[in-house]
Amino acid sequence: MDEERHSAMNDTNLTVIGLQWGDEGKGKIVDALTGRFDCVVRFCGGANAGHTVTVGDKVYALHLIPSGILRHGVHNVIGNGVVVDPSVLLEEIAGLTGRGVAVSGANLHLSNRAHVVMPYHKAADRLNEAKLAGSAKIGTTARGIGPCYADKANRSTAVRVGDLYQPGWDARIRTIVAEKNAVFAALYGAEPLDADDVVAQAASWRDALAPLVCDTGAMLRQAVRQGRRILFEGAQGSLLDVDHGTYPFVTSSAVTACGVPTGAGVSPRDIGRVIGVLKAYCTRVGAGPLATEQDNATGDLIRRRGREYGTTTGRPRRCGWFDAVAGRYAAELSGVDELAVMLLDVLGTVGELKICTGYTLNGRPLEGFDPTIATLEGVQCVYETLPGWDEDITACTRYGELPQAARDYVERIEALVGRPIGIVSVGPKRAQTITRNSALADLIAS
Ligand code: GDP
Ligand code: IMO
Ligand code: MG
Repeated sequence: MDEERHSAMNDTNLTVIGLQWGDEGKGKIVDALTGRFDCVVRFCGGANAGHTVTVGDKVYALHLIPSGILRHGVHNVIGNGVVVDPSVLLEEIAGLTGRGVAVSGANLHLSNRAHVVMPYHKAADRLNEAKLAGSAKIGTTARGIGPCYADKANRSTAVRVGDLYQPGWDARIRTIVAEKNAVFAALYGAEPLDADDVVAQAASWRDALAPLVCDTGAMLRQAVRQGRRILFEGAQGSLLDVDHGTYPFVTSSAVTACGVPTGAGVSPRDIGRVIGVLKAYCTRVGAGPLATEQDNATGDLIRRRGREYGTTTGRPRRCGWFDAVAGRYAAELSGVDELAVMLLDVLGTVGELKICTGYTLNGRPLEGFDPTIATLEGVQCVYETLPGWDEDITACTRYGELPQAARDYVERIEALVGRPIGIVSVGPKRAQTITRNSALADLIAS
């Protein structure tokens, strides 16, 4: 029996992955599905993420806490692959509690192996970005993500959540702060951080976080053995992946479905079916290539209609046409079973719509999507033009109610990306979610 479980793929579980540059609407999809799951797990990124969940007329922006927190009885797990800024986490807990959402060790679990984003990581992120010359700037969220993952790889200067409970933890932090201060002074001429302040902050985190901390990997593997349903909640988007994205304009973790097993501590067989989340167009916040960008009135109209401003930083998002070449690449990377196409309503009244179906370099067609080629000069998009629609589709609840032009657009994306589209979203609310031959139809609750 156990052997059978080891050899078969686990289709009890589900993984939700962003297939573009983040902000695809993962939070909405995770929330729509969580009613039927026992655990929701974050496995990558940190407080650079901003997942919006709309419940009735309430809007929640979640950064570190999984989007399952709004459903009663769901266990929410911040896995070992996440970098955790305790000050953001505690603020988020207080914000939710203040709005009547219960958060405690009963429904939120924090990995003892997750790495801690320390004040010097945030300082390093800001100082490094400020030092980079214009076109080299990454446009990070300044949440200390890159420097924290760098220390994780460096090991000797890393602080894991569990380290805060080890004897001598405070002396170790003092040693690291002294080293960071020496680097800051030499590289940036920056003011030193006060080690007493850092230790005092860490002491308060230690006490406040204690009820949440455990070996979440062991907990999840036990949940798998017991046949409980787990949903893995992706953060960022596949084209921001540290290996497979548009490097160096990426984040610092593995954000595709390949990041789930290491970031959560489960077997690759236990990630379950993979849902790829796509916007009906493209956005990107921060620097780096966005081949289909419309830095013009069309882009402005999409930004206005889609309220395309960052959930974490408030920065205006860059907007452009749907890139089917990049979408196909991302769907392949994560082994996507089914696609969710989000924010379709935003494209109404935009006029004729374009989809990028290929790239050329100096006039010669390119094969597939190469994230390094996308950064080269001389790369151009090949577009296909489709008719748009003017109807308001935000009240449609069945696929057949969508205007023909909207259905043709969805079906063209499906053909070009090469995976079935099972979910179409026409507004931020739970009820504005249309399923279409989806294996998940019975899981989507309103
Ligand atoms: P995430 O990071 O992938 O969870 O996405 P964000 O929450 O950062 O950004 C997605 C935004 O689009 C949020 O403001 C959502 O409330 C909103 N949203 C999600 N789905 C839809 C939709 O179908 N239509 C519209 N108009 N907004 C949506
Ligand atoms: P969610 O989960 C959109 C982008 C930043 C920047 C780059 C590197 O909400 O989809 P970092 O702070 O990670 O070092 O910044 O990655 N970025 C995101 N963009 N959505 C996100 O998360 C992002 N997380 C990071 O804007 O370009
Ligand atoms: Mg977001």
